[in-house]
Amino acid sequence: IFAAVEMAPRDPILGLNEAFNADTRATKVNLGVGVYFTDEGKIPLLGAVKAAEKTRIEAAPARGYQPIEGAAAYNNAVAALLFGKDSALLANGQTITIEALGGTGALKVGADYLKRLLPNATVYISDPSWENHRALFESAGFPVSNYAYYDAATRGVNFEGMLADLRQMPAQSIVVLHACCHNPTGADITAAQWEQVVAVIRERNLIGFLDMAYQGFADGIKEDAVALDLFAASGLQFLVSSSFSKSFSLYGERVGALTIVASSKEEAGRVMSQVKRVVRTNYSNPPTHGGAVVAAVLSSPELRQQWEDELAGMRLRIREMRKSLVEKLAARGVAQDFSFVIKQRGMFSYTGLTVEQVEKLKTDFGVYAVGTGRICVAALNTKNIDYVADAITAVLK
Ligand code: LMR
Repeated sequence: IFAAVEMAPRDPILGLNEAFNADTRATKVNLGVGVYFTDEGKIPLLGAVKAAEKTRIEAAPARGYQPIEGAAAYNNAVAALLFGKDSALLANGQTITIEALGGTGALKVGADYLKRLLPNATVYISDPSWENHRALFESAGFPVSNYAYYDAATRGVNFEGMLADLRQMPAQSIVVLHACCHNPTGADITAAQWEQVVAVIRERNLIGFLDMAYQGFADGIKEDAVALDLFAASGLQFLVSSSFSKSFSLYGERVGALTIVASSKEEAGRVMSQVKRVVRTNYSNPPTHGGAVVAAVLSSPELRQQWEDELAGMRLRIREMRKSLVEKLAARGVAQDFSFVIKQRGMFSYTGLTVEQVEKLKTDFGVYAVGTGRICVAALNTKNIDYVADAITAVLK
């Protein structure tokens, strides 16, 4: 039965890890996948996480099944993190949150649920978007189109183009929006622009699906939730996928959440009953450990503070690397102005390197980047940045 099976191409992001691991050069650098590394080149285990894990291991909890939607303590903590603990949406019981297998898992449960609800809808993603968005929504059965987003000339957002495209969408289209730290471009829209987006979404009767995988990596937990605040205040119904992979450095634990805002508590209850069916037929219920650790950190004032401090440390180190990369490229006589790297937000820089230049970085230097020219600035450190700057300078010649 497998005789005619064709070899699938490697995943454009995770496939880079496979190629990187197979590379035997000692100087290789992996700037592909969005993972934060310390200045020592290690994935950190955060102190707040370590403390919560220690308590949990000492308590030696049994590992029974979780509820289909995950633990209430986790889901409530997630909703409070997204909307603020005093949010009217939470007080009204209008939101449902389920623990999902990372941000990707949240998107997939949301996509599968929306397909049942709106089988004829089209999904719109930004041009460009995270590599997996298109594949994920297509695999849920939706046609996927782009809306204008990045403006290569200004290295910012083509906001007029974005609005114009939103205005063309048929009613009940699903619009995937990056809530902050746009992946891959690092170019976000302003609060005032978000207001306009929300207004068009309302006017056109569209469905916003906000992907929030990098909360805390631009300016801070609260500051990065500006889009969510505006959607929450709008009275619209919408979906949010969120993730603790990056902000808690819990990549492999697959801790994320899908949150859906309904128009009433009663409606939210019915939506939850349907989402649970999607989960039950996919993976039954989520794993225990990661969610329990996140819930413990978020519900302890001390650990929460420690976590926010650690997150700030990651954010600041990435900013330093942005600055340093720009300086080092300039010092090497690169003619092109790379100062835009400093303005980009989140883990990534959309460098403008071509597919050929990215390929050359890999073959000649063992520096791995995504084919679109996206590099993970969070993987740069004081030991590898000179080598990377040399490599980029060489491929630009
Ligand atoms: C990325 O964009 O590199 C991350 O979101 C990791 C992933 O799953 O692709």
